[in-house]
Amino acid sequence: MDQAETLRKLKSERLKKNNGLMKKIAITSGKGGVGKTNVVINLAIALQRRKKRITIFDADLGLANIDILLGLAPKYNIVNLISDDFPIEKILIEGPGGIKIIPASSGIQEITNLDPYQEEKLLSELSKVAEFTDILLIDTAAGISNLVLSFLLSSEEIILVTNSEPTSIVDAYAVVKVVSKYDLEKPISVIVNSVRSEEEGKTVFNQLRTTVDRFLGREISLLGFLPYDKVVLEAVKTQKAVVEAFPESEISRAFSNLSRILLNKLSWVTPDEGNNESWKKMLSLSENEK
Ligand SMILES: Nc1ncnc2c1ncn2[C@@H]1O[C@H](COP(=O)(O)OP(=O)(O)OP(=O)(O)O)[C@@H](O)[C@H]1O
Ligand SMILES: [Mg+2]
Repeated sequence: MDQAETLRKLKSERLKKNNGLMKKIAITSGKGGVGKTNVVINLAIALQRRKKRITIFDADLGLANIDILLGLAPKYNIVNLISDDFPIEKILIEGPGGIKIIPASSGIQEITNLDPYQEEKLLSELSKVAEFTDILLIDTAAGISNLVLSFLLSSEEIILVTNSEPTSIVDAYAVVKVVSKYDLEKPISVIVNSVRSEEEGKTVFNQLRTTVDRFLGREISLLGFLPYDKVVLEAVKTQKAVVEAFPESEISRAFSNLSRILLNKLSWVTPDEGNNESWKKMLSLSENEK
């Protein structure tokens, strides 16, 4: 085998492992407490059940919630990655249903003020999980700080969570406005959480879509609605994911549906299917090597 061929083979093997196909999806809301973390955890498990390899990044860096909601006690966290140069593999933990979790820290304020070098390092360590991840779900902090904005802009998709409270809808609109200032094309889809009826969900989404269309001249799409369900609080109290603790509940079925809709929306391509796109990518890389 000549050198060029060996190089091509190595590159195609690396692409197969990583394949550039990991999707980064940021889950955000503007207003706090609307259900982002619950969405991330349950959607992650529902997607993993559909045979996708899911990693969650708890990007509420100074107020870790993912591990608490799942009753996990990670030994290391994001502070070790930023301050102690730990590689991402060392802080990664396993969660229910085989999902992987990159834990945040709790009560370390400095971690919320990353300098550009630290931010770059974090993003580059994050890209390493592509070797064993199909979808990286990023659970952002509430608000629209510069750090939240960098997570939103570096993701391929944004899922915006709102409930039917006017403050939550207005804050969701504010997120779309800020993101659109930098990237008008970034796909944004909406989950309306804690609805009492489908009608309520539709009303909220239409209100948001109309305002976004009129004032920002861009589109947002609907991912789906999640019902208000008291079993969520039960699951939170026992530090379990609701789809595991109450698999037959209305909300668990809604999460299963959402995961299917999301995969269709991403027009999913699994890394080993040798589809046209990945072949094209591989070929263009080989061309460049010549
Ligand atoms: N569909 C739902 N039905 C009933 N209660 C819900 C639902 N979704 C969320 N909740 C309740 O809202 C609380 C807050 O949810 P969660 O912690 O996921 O919000 P968050 O947006 O991540 O908050 P923060 O902005 O502080 O990170 C949950 O503990 C739960 O009690
Ligand atoms: Mg949260």
